[in-house]
Amino acid sequence: MEIMKDGVGETSYAKNSSYQQSLLSKAQPYIEETIVQLYCRTFPQCLTIADLGCSSGPNSLFIISELLKTINAVCQKLGRSPPEFQVFLNDLPENDFNTIFKSTPNFYEKFRSDNGQEFGPIFVAGVPGSFYNRLFPTKTLNFVHSSFGLHWLSQVPQGIENNKGSVYLAKTSPSNVYKAYAEQFNSDFSVFLSLRSKEMMIGGCMVLTIVGRRNSEPPSKDYRNSWEVFSKTLRDMVSEGLIEETKLDSFNLPYYTPSIEEVQTIIESEGSFDLDWIKTFDNDWDNSEDYANREFVHDKIKSGEFVAKWMRAIVEPIFVSHFGDSAIEDLFCRYAKDVGDIYAKERPMLTTLVICMTKN
Ligand SMILES: C[S@@+](CC[C@H](N)C(=O)[O-])C[C@H]1O[C@@H](n2cnc3c(N)ncnc32)[C@H](O)[C@@H]1O
Repeated sequence: MEIMKDGVGETSYAKNSSYQQSLLSKAQPYIEETIVQLYCRTFPQCLTIADLGCSSGPNSLFIISELLKTINAVCQKLGRSPPEFQVFLNDLPENDFNTIFKSTPNFYEKFRSDNGQEFGPIFVAGVPGSFYNRLFPTKTLNFVHSSFGLHWLSQVPQGIENNKGSVYLAKTSPSNVYKAYAEQFNSDFSVFLSLRSKEMMIGGCMVLTIVGRRNSEPPSKDYRNSWEVFSKTLRDMVSEGLIEETKLDSFNLPYYTPSIEEVQTIIESEGSFDLDWIKTFDNDWDNSEDYANREFVHDKIKSGEFVAKWMRAIVEPIFVSHFGDSAIEDLFCRYAKDVGDIYAKERPMLTTLVICMTKN
């Protein structure tokens, strides 16, 4: 299943991932601190790092490049030669790895010009496959990073055919739907931890950034989630005869936003990792540049369009494979307007959880 819109076109994830990058920037200092502590514990000759769900575009090498810079600065401070770096970039086989590979000569060159010729060497390799399967040989990885990938489930939970008129958990969803989503996440995240525990060295660290929730209430009660608005847009299109009702009723996303408590419980009961910390950040759906200057007075049209762009880059392939592509332009025009209507009343927020753990 393809999730992100590939290529480098106007609606691609590559062109519309600044939102995720700015959210990730909030976590960056904590991720850097974690890798420095890890490096300074053992000073490995080769530091092996994997980024899981790297996608294709500016974010694919964004955090990796920041982490390498940080290690370089530490080595300079300590008067040590920097280690070699083995960097594995993973995503689903449908991911546009070619675009990333083509960007590596520039990446290496820029790195050397910014950080000195003696830096590295850096070996970047692509690893196609699902992170819900084994991806690496036993005990190969020092550090694992993943951002905005693990709220995507391995499959749509089974037995939720009665979740009609909504693409995800909504206020109107029957209780079995919430239970099925929570159980699917529990199962997927446990499998993910157990697989990574085989691939990571003892003492290795993993930092995961995912969309989540601050409290244990069902996701539909926690905040007005962006999928509820998406469902409303789709229902309007059904009522105007633009989309078939049965198509909407049979569509559910393989997506789940866990609470802090759920994440803690799963890590503890799976048992392969010690949970070091979880940090939470609340983010406006629209954090485009001029957001800082408009505390209360929103340009609702601009905000709606901004949110619709990053949502489209995420959801277009899944949507098109279920509904076809004839309604896609109309859908996202309407979605932008519906999000704008929310901005006329409130600032909708999305919570991210940044989770750090050590392989025991
Ligand atoms: C929103 S993008 C995030 C990309 C990048 N890490 C970032 O922070 O901008 C989520 C990525 O996770 C990938 N993904 C989702 N499920 C996956 C799985 N089971 N295995 C590997 N990658 C997966 C998607 O293909 C997509 O490229």
